Parts: sequence; structure tokens; C-alpha cells
Amino acid sequence: MKHLDFCRQWQLSTPLIQAPMAGGATTPELVAAVCEAGALGAFAAAMLSPAQITAGIAAIRALTDRPFLVNLFVLETPTPTEDTLAHAQSMLADSYRAIGIDQTTPSKWCEDFSAQLDAVLAAKPAAISFAFGLAGAAVIERCHLAGIQVIGTATTVSEGLAWQADGADAVCAQGVEAGGHRGGLQTEEGGGMIGTLALVPQMVDALSIPVIAAGGVMDGRGIAACLVLGAAGVQMGTAFLCCPESGISTTWKQALLAAGDDATRITRVFSGRPARGLYNDFMASMARYERHVPPYPVQNALTGPMRQAAQRAGRADYLSLWAGQGVRLARGVPASELVEVLDREWRALLPSWG
Ligand SMILES: Cc1cc2nc3c(=O)[nH]c(=O)nc-3n(C[C@H](O)[C@H](O)[C@H](O)COP(=O)(O)O)c2cc1C
Repeated sequence: MKHLDFCRQWQLSTPLIQAPMAGGATTPELVAAVCEAGALGAFAAAMLSPAQITAGIAAIRALTDRPFLVNLFVLETPTPTEDTLAHAQSMLADSYRAIGIDQTTPSKWCEDFSAQLDAVLAAKPAAISFAFGLAGAAVIERCHLAGIQVIGTATTVSEGLAWQADGADAVCAQGVEAGGHRGGLQTEEGGGMIGTLALVPQMVDALSIPVIAAGGVMDGRGIAACLVLGAAGVQMGTAFLCCPESGISTTWKQALLAAGDDATRITRVFSGRPARGLYNDFMASMARYERHVPPYPVQNALTGPMRQAAQRAGRADYLSLWAGQGVRLARGVPASELVEVLDREWRALLPSWG
């Protein structure tokens, strides 16, 4: 039974990873509470500077001495042309007008990946996971030399095989139900949109390293289903967003708790990379530009001030309300209670699984 090895490998009492969630959800308090409850807490570091990463990891260590995971996006710093920027800003003009602030050109597009990686390697968390691209064998080897285990994000079997060939210790198989950004290699044709139920067994059959199932898992039924499909564990994001320790805004939490089963859509308009969130006015008004906005992280940086203004004003219509398809099943309970309930739920369904 793969989940027993998985739990042993990461010193867990339940085969569960709380997903790293960039944008403020995965506070040190959330990560530490999950770890203390026996699951693997994950700190989203992709949008943080090296100094913020170091401080965040220290804050987690002040709250727990259990293993945890740190997550980065594999990104190159882009150099968009002035024409690209002018076009992108013209597409956003109405939205900035609606939210009542002026557009500015960001001073930087994203954090420098190699400086972020250095900060994580120096802090030596138990595990690191990567999304958005392959980290490559050399980076994985550096992680291993620092004593850090590596999880790659894959949305197709071929991506999973590439992570395995490069030396990753496990693969997170992200189904299309997942909240937030698609974590695999982006394709122009919009590939990599396979449901968790279909993706996990195909990944399990093709790979020899553990597969962690992500996307649409909200309760013990989802965990049990993924274990039966051959996953060694699950990674759950949306389920943790409404926990009191999660750092997202009250506006976002309220929208999640009111959402129905058909509330989410995948869009590029917020960030330039396909991501699933609650459908709102910004997505609707920008739909005609879906294929025209510049790729991540340029569009993400260009919409940043608009989203921050929306947050300050408590306006859900211009916020990126990332959420997965299972959002209706979200529970606003403390993280430790959620982990305990999830553990009880899946074990009740698979009593002989140990
Ligand atoms: C708000 C939000 C932010 C996310 N940010 C990240 C991230 O920074 N890095 C990452 O690898 N995955 C990120 N994800 C995706 C999760 O790792 C995971 O694949 C997803 O939450 C699983 O689907 P679920 O939301 O249905 O549980 C994010 C998901 C959400 C909902």
C-alpha cells in the first residue's frame, strides 16, 4: 500500500499534503497547524523575495519542528516589448477605470528563480515542490545534495515521466478540477486539461515514483478514491482556503463559502496562464481577450494593482478568486480539525488500509 510508504517517507500520520497556494493563503500558521496535525504543510514561496522566503521558513520553524514543504514556480524573467505592454494595458483600461485607479507599469515582473532557489536550499526544508516548468536534473541534484526531497507538478503522463527521468522523488498529478494555476508545462493548444479520475491511474501505471493526486479532492471520499486509483497521497488546496489560518481576504472566503458546483472557470485573463477560479465580472468582461493577453508573469504583474485595489475595497468582481471545482464542499474549520476529520473520513471508507 503506497500511502504507508508515503507516510513513512514524510513522517506523516495521514497521506495528505496541504497545497502550496501563492497569494497569501499558506501562512506560517496554516502550514504549522497542518504539520502538527500529522499532514504535510506547504509554504507557497513563488511570489516571495529571497528575504521573505527565509523569514517565512523561520516563522514556520518557530511554530513546529515537523517536516514541511516549500514551493516555487520555475520561471524565467520575461522582457516584454513596449508594444506588447501598450496592447496589454489597453485591454485592461476599462477594468482599471471600473476599479477607480490609474494603471502603472510594474517595476519587476517576477522574483528571480535562482535567487529564490538559493534561499530555499539554504533553509533546507524537508521537501521542495516545483510548478510551471521542469526544474531539470541539475537543480534536482542540488536539492538532493542539500537533503531536500523533490516533488514535480505534472498535468500529463509525459510531464510526469520527464520529472521522473530528471530524478524527482514524487510527482503531483494535477487534474483539471484543481483550483489556481495549471501547474504543468503550458501548451499553446490548451493541452494538459485531464480530469483527476482519468489522470491519476494513467500516471500511476506509467511511473515508478509515488504519485500524489491533486484537483477536486475535498473530503475523505476524494482521498479514498485517489488511494484506490493508486495514488500514494493527495494534495488539497481549495479545502484549506477557508480555514481561519488561511491568509486570504474575507471577501474571497465569503465568495468561496457561497459558491455552487458550477461556479468556477479556467481563464488566462488575470495572469496570462490558465487558472481556475470563481467566475466574476472581470473574467466576463475580459473574455474576448482570452487569447490575446501576454503570458505569465507579465499579465499577472499588470493586473496586480487592480486586484489589490479590489481587495482593499472588498470587491469580489475584480479579484482573482482561485478555487477548484469542489469548492461547494469547502468547510471553514481550523486546519488541525480539518486534517483530523479528513483522516477519519477516508479511514472509515477504507478500514483495512492501515
Ligand atoms: C488559491 C490557490 C493558489 C495556488 N497556488 C499554487 C502555488 O503557488 N503553487 C502550486 O504548485 N500550486 C498552487 N495551487 C494549486 C495546488 O497546488 C493544487 O494543485 C490544487 O489546489 C488542487 O486542487 P483543489 O484546489 O481542488 O484541491 C494553488 C491553488 C489554489 C486554490
